[in-house]
Amino acid sequence: SYSIDQLLVKGKEAIHQDVIVKGWVRSFRSNRFIALNDGSTINNIQVVVDFENFDEETLDQISVAAAIKVTGVVVESQGKGQDIEIQAKSIKIYGGVNSDDLQGTILQPKRHTLEFLREQAHLRFRTNTFAAIMRVRHALMFAIHQYYNDKGFFYVNTPIVTGSDAEGAGEMFCVTNFDFDNLPKTEDGKVDFSQDFFSKKTNLTVSGQLEAEAAAMGLGKVYTFGPTFRAENSNTSRHLAEFWMIEPEVAFNDLDDNMDLAEDFMKYVIQYALDNCKDDLAFLNDRYEKEQSQKPKDQRSDLGLIERLEYVLNNKFVRLTYTEAIDILKDSKPNKKGKFKYSIDGWGADLQSEHERYLVEKHFKSPVILFDYPAEIKAFYMRLNEDGKTVRAMDVLFPGIGEIIGGSQREERLDVLRKKMEEFNVDQEELWWYLDTRKFGTVPHSGFGLGLERLVLFVTGMTNIRDVIPFPRTPKSAEF
Ligand code: 4AD
Ligand code: MG
Repeated sequence: SYSIDQLLVKGKEAIHQDVIVKGWVRSFRSNRFIALNDGSTINNIQVVVDFENFDEETLDQISVAAAIKVTGVVVESQGKGQDIEIQAKSIKIYGGVNSDDLQGTILQPKRHTLEFLREQAHLRFRTNTFAAIMRVRHALMFAIHQYYNDKGFFYVNTPIVTGSDAEGAGEMFCVTNFDFDNLPKTEDGKVDFSQDFFSKKTNLTVSGQLEAEAAAMGLGKVYTFGPTFRAENSNTSRHLAEFWMIEPEVAFNDLDDNMDLAEDFMKYVIQYALDNCKDDLAFLNDRYEKEQSQKPKDQRSDLGLIERLEYVLNNKFVRLTYTEAIDILKDSKPNKKGKFKYSIDGWGADLQSEHERYLVEKHFKSPVILFDYPAEIKAFYMRLNEDGKTVRAMDVLFPGIGEIIGGSQREERLDVLRKKMEEFNVDQEELWWYLDTRKFGTVPHSGFGLGLERLVLFVTGMTNIRDVIPFPRTPKSAEF
């Protein structure tokens, strides 16, 4: 018994061999040729059915989307494209399909829009595009673990249910075992959290960073990789309410080390995908190029998908300060009217994704690492610079994506951290344990967070984040 991928890799070597393959029918032409797929690869194997040798009943059940087991012999393929095909000796039907049920589903063999695929997220795994994306996503996740393991990092699991708001942005989903129709109240009428399962307000994590910092203060080099939740009401093609984040944290690293790590890491995982997902990326590359050719000329990317990945590998990321970026943006003429949709309000303003993408796609034509942002627009835990107004923050900006990584060198000085927490209204009693890490042998340290889905978007050339995660959770949809 072989997976279709294994069999196609064997190719002509497998000729004359008896094999069993199992999969789903993609098409059945002329009552004779089955295109069979089992999810192991984008490629189908052709199964030839001599209908004289099969009973009506079996033949009737071989239809699009049916699940079957084929016992047969590998022969040289007569058609072009593939070296081998299977001459079927017997076919077992695991699950047939009622053709009426098939109507209106994304399994019907024709072109469907991505929007339509999303409505049937549970069936998307059967489609070429989505299955290719899922295999690439898997390869990237595997490469991420391999990268950090090879570099001596330890994978630590940080809590999903937590009391802290790591980013201080108040974008949390509350977690409770309360019966909402019957909330326990204190005497002054407020919700009584002492009666909650956790006896206090808890939420789903927005980042494992603070706990990762604690771990790095003993283990040295650590990373987290888990689901992360943001209750921000942004319906964009880059935001999810539930996404996966990778967060390395390294004791003794300064911001330059952090930038080096981010760049090396990104290049490693992209190279891994290029080396290990050749067929899927070739398929996605074709798709990407077709999509680009339908865009107006000035919006088209000059590079194909694979060319773009190679371009990122072969060029050093541009590094510049926020202040330098503002100077460039102030003098830029991004479109015919010479304006951005959101104007740059001068130093201190946060950048919109159109500004980030302008720097990457038009000005530098390269991934960019922006650093030393104004303290006010970044989180409380970032290390304050000598100038007293910027912090050692860094954002990695990618073409077609904008921000793909956010990170910083952390404030390791207890007194400065305390002052920042005061200014940012971060509860010091709540984060007593975090402050402890600065009391007992504090060290400079740095880390960052990579959004897995944004990485998958970049590598697959997709444009909507809902198309790179199996069951997307967004403000408007969590149907599955
Ligand atoms: O910039 P963010 O919010 O940084 C942090 O959470 C830090 N604690 C990370 C750290 O230093 N350890 O998020 C990091 C990355 C972003 O650059 C983006 O790629 C992704 O996480 N991200 C999202 N991805 C999808 N949907 C959302 N709503 C996201 N919010 C952030
Ligand atoms: Mg960020």
